[in-house]
Amino acid sequence: MGALLEARAVAKHFGGVKALRDVSLSIREGEIYGLIGPNGAGKTTFFNCLTGLYVPDGGGFEFSGAPLQANAPHQAAERGIARTFQNIRLFANMTALENVMVGRHVRTRAGVLGAMLQTRATREEEAAIRQRAEALLHYVRIEDKADDLAKNLSYGDQRRLEIARALATEPRLLCLDEPAAGMNATETEELRELIEGIRKDGTTILLIEHDVKLVMGLCDRVAVLDYGALVIEDVPAVVQKDQRVIEAYLGA
Ligand SMILES: Nc1ncnc2c1ncn2[C@@H]1O[C@H](COP(=O)(O)OP(=O)(O)OP(=O)(O)O)[C@@H](O)[C@H]1O
Ligand SMILES: [Mg+2]
Repeated sequence: MGALLEARAVAKHFGGVKALRDVSLSIREGEIYGLIGPNGAGKTTFFNCLTGLYVPDGGGFEFSGAPLQANAPHQAAERGIARTFQNIRLFANMTALENVMVGRHVRTRAGVLGAMLQTRATREEEAAIRQRAEALLHYVRIEDKADDLAKNLSYGDQRRLEIARALATEPRLLCLDEPAAGMNATETEELRELIEGIRKDGTTILLIEHDVKLVMGLCDRVAVLDYGALVIEDVPAVVQKDQRVIEAYLGA
């Protein structure tokens, strides 16, 4: 299978901090790809460059064979890249269902004018969006929380809701930034099943995660960042035994 995402020498600096030093990596269609490394290694910065929140200072991305425009979050979404955030970003005072419906709008036609005029077409589209959002809540198994305000959901359920909202854009690549953070063992196991299911249903996954057991058990390949530089990109069995990785991250 060919590469879905190619990162070529992506660099990002914040003043004197080199958050990313010419990072090149390649994610294949259909794989679960892990991105690990110590705190401050540049993992989230990589996501932010990929999804257009930051403009890289050097290098760039190719997605599905065509360059990704920098500084264009909307374009990343349209091209099929969705993400969740390390610090959960939901609309706290909207219901779970409404949060997913918002995510869905990137794939729909009716503009603001259509919504104001409330044409039959927009009403039908709105109903379809609602139906699809309900299906996604069911998919991440929080359908019973559809009418709860996002802020009232448990931490684990908020993370699931973020995944549902990201899936609403029908991504080809789903980027998860520490989805298991703050989860207990049962929630983490359920998350593992969810991620495997998403991949099985055809979405490629890029996973940032500190839970090494989860990463090594779930990922087809893993990349390690340290001080903004790529240390290694390989299958978990090789990465786990790499001396540099053990020293920088895994510990003896
Ligand atoms: N907007 C910013 N402004 C200034 N410095 C930043 C900014 N974003 C990140 N950095 C710095 O860039 C480096 C990489 O940060 P980043 O958040 O990408 O690390 P990370 O690997 O995601 O770490 P963690 O595991 O703690 O989430 C850090 O030194 C951080 O302080
Ligand atoms: Mg981070």
